[in-house]
Amino acid sequence: MWDTGKVDSDQSVHIEYDGPALRSATRYYYRVRVWDEDRKSEWSERAFLETGLLDPSDWSADWITPSWHIDPLTVYPCPIMRKTFTANQEIKKATVYVTGAGLYELRLNGRKVGRDMLTPGWTSYHKRIQYQTYDITDDILRGKNAVGVVLGEGWYKGNMTWFDRRNNYGETVSALVQIHIQYKDGTGDTVVSDDSWTAADGPILFSEIYHGEVYDARLEKTGWDMPDFDDTGWQKTVTAPMGYHALVAQESAPVRVMEEIKPVRILQTPAGETVVDMGQNMAGMVRFRIKGNRGDTIKLRHFEVLGDDGNVYLENLVAAKQKVEYTLSGDDAGTFAPHFTYQGFRYLWLEAYPEPELDDFTGLVLYSDIQTTGYFTCSNEMINRLQQNILWSQKSNFIDVPTDCPQRSERLGWTGDVQIFASTAAYNMDCDSFFSKWLYDLSADQKDDGLVPWVVPDIITEDEYPKAWLEGTGDTIPTSAGWGDAAVIVPWTLYQVYGDIRILKRQYNSMKAWVEYIWQQGDHEYLWNTGFHFGDWAALDTNPQNRFGATSADFIATAYYAYSTKLLMKTAKLLGYEEDAHAYQQLYAKIVDAFRKEFITPAGRLSDQTQTAHAVALLFDLVEKKDQQKTVDRLAAMMKKNGYTLWAGFIGIPYLCFALSRYGHAETAMKLLLQTECPSWLYQITKGATTIWEYWNNDTFKASFNHYAYGSIGAWLYAVPGGITIDEHGPGYKHSVISPLLAADFDYVKTGIQTVYGPLKSEWKRDGENIEIGITVPHNTSATVLLSGAEPSSVSENGADLSEDTDGIMRIRKTDQGTEVELGSGSYHFRYPKRP
Ligand code: BGC
Repeated sequence: MWDTGKVDSDQSVHIEYDGPALRSATRYYYRVRVWDEDRKSEWSERAFLETGLLDPSDWSADWITPSWHIDPLTVYPCPIMRKTFTANQEIKKATVYVTGAGLYELRLNGRKVGRDMLTPGWTSYHKRIQYQTYDITDDILRGKNAVGVVLGEGWYKGNMTWFDRRNNYGETVSALVQIHIQYKDGTGDTVVSDDSWTAADGPILFSEIYHGEVYDARLEKTGWDMPDFDDTGWQKTVTAPMGYHALVAQESAPVRVMEEIKPVRILQTPAGETVVDMGQNMAGMVRFRIKGNRGDTIKLRHFEVLGDDGNVYLENLVAAKQKVEYTLSGDDAGTFAPHFTYQGFRYLWLEAYPEPELDDFTGLVLYSDIQTTGYFTCSNEMINRLQQNILWSQKSNFIDVPTDCPQRSERLGWTGDVQIFASTAAYNMDCDSFFSKWLYDLSADQKDDGLVPWVVPDIITEDEYPKAWLEGTGDTIPTSAGWGDAAVIVPWTLYQVYGDIRILKRQYNSMKAWVEYIWQQGDHEYLWNTGFHFGDWAALDTNPQNRFGATSADFIATAYYAYSTKLLMKTAKLLGYEEDAHAYQQLYAKIVDAFRKEFITPAGRLSDQTQTAHAVALLFDLVEKKDQQKTVDRLAAMMKKNGYTLWAGFIGIPYLCFALSRYGHAETAMKLLLQTECPSWLYQITKGATTIWEYWNNDTFKASFNHYAYGSIGAWLYAVPGGITIDEHGPGYKHSVISPLLAADFDYVKTGIQTVYGPLKSEWKRDGENIEIGITVPHNTSATVLLSGAEPSSVSENGADLSEDTDGIMRIRKTDQGTEVELGSGSYHFRYPKRP
């Protein structure tokens, strides 16, 4: 199909296919080889890509649903639908393309197809609905086969948001199945969902995202997904008018059971409840051993924390029931796990379960199957736990959509939380396709005037917005500064971390529409001083009832207006959109000017004397150069005066330590990090937290115990004590800047990430009076490394004197901070006595 020949280029990633047009449903094989100055590699192993159904006309299947009448407000058992078919010849390859409105489980000859859970995932369903593709060559039998589908309500039809609202996207669950069979003799067959399938009620009586699942094994139709099952008496199916316009192939990694954990203890609460402790707060479900007699019902409730009285505590789940019930048929054996739901929990309340033993339960940890690409460890065990908690909160909230929390009746793609956490997330895990998929939905759900809704996929209807909040704002559908800015910040972050300019190209219209939207707001062209805002959500610097924090909304909104405009301007420049670049450059300058006039006194004092105001103004470069030091000194003094108390909310937290360390107050940043009194990151560790809390005072406030927003300190751990940062002009770590802070509080720090070019590592330790720094620079990239406090002449590399003659060391330079070395790819080991 395509031979690139030898191409002289330093581009080794994101090389796009540029051959003849690809056909639908076809597997293409490829292999590569590379040359450097004097070597030629062997051919790589053969790899493949397989196209999906590229055109709506490739679909011949119908969307189908059971024929019986339903009342949309009544909850029914999950329907099952089936069909038998014959494969006459010897099979070469078989593939199934499948999706559902609601959630589906596809069955073939008695087995579930694939390992994916909660398919087809959550998207802006009216505009985009993913289908999944599975290779079923080994599952199809020559002769008679049976295919079946179970349908759950899921995000599509089940109860979502804080209103008891159902049917959010539609009233009918349905499925679309198309099987392509290729025979060895070159012929083929297509098996599709159509109204020849039959339908019946299944044993799942109830299954919903928030509420859990109720299963009655007595209602099982044993063998229903096998070829010789007798389905006499089953109902008909009918076609559903869903069409093909919204179908898109799976974009991100599917949700799967990624880890299994065993419980650590079974306890009795003072109220006499039997509780299983998984030892780790998580999202997913429990697989349990089925025990008892016909007609007995096992009843489980999932929850996050024990109450202050030591008893089962369900209040912070708000409306989410998080229950699983299983009624035995008497013939059942083995284990059970629910199908179309997930829970956020550490504890399992056994409302009804006979003689529980630890081994009866396994926690199935669910998240999108993306790779954990980063690590951060250091000599402080509490910080290590913090890093683990951040990662756990990320996993718990990366269930196809980046959510705020996994337990209460919310679990929504809150744009602000995503934006705040995006860069930490991308240090920890490979988020490229995960966020890219979500950004498609962000664009899809963005309003015509550019407004970005609170949550994506946008499932909140106009009457659900809290009226009291919108009163006097003029908004009927609100957005918020710091939330809607996800439209600009997330694509920019992805471009920086993964270096793929296509994400900016694709999102450009959405990014631009957001900035244009802000431009229309406010009663002053260059300030954003109207409308509803979440402010510095969850900050503690006003009274505890007011979650909006003390920093004024227009300060934050105008700061983000400037920041998003700046990123848009840079994007326009990169994409070669000269006119836009110029226009946004001017807009940016005017916003900065207006910001300074409105929020910074001529003597350089910020209008808002809060931690967040200082952090944001500094990090967004809104403070004039001459005032920067004063501003950060004031912030540091403020922190010292209040005893290093973290009062900042969602908006300030990602930037506070960065602002301090960037301008010479790293020690203050470390004091904040290591603070163990409330409010602080480590306070929750002293209280035994295993995930990140929603509020600093969550032990008394009792909201979500699994919210990643405050975990945005993670990026600072990687970037400052770890030292790993991206050079904005060398995105994707094509060029990185590694400058570890050799913090006195740590004896060692080890950090690394898997970049698109390969592993990048920065690890340092103290050895008596000496510092040792190990650096690995990925293939085809370079790095500027600062050896802090080093004299060039006293540094050794791999036991020899530091020298530009050493392979890979391109430049050595003495700076005020120490010695700076420019490195090519490879591994290096530096050692030097630290200057006092
Ligand atoms: C969510 C947040 C979200 C916020 C908006 C909360 O209920 O859990 O994380 O950003 O609402 O203020």
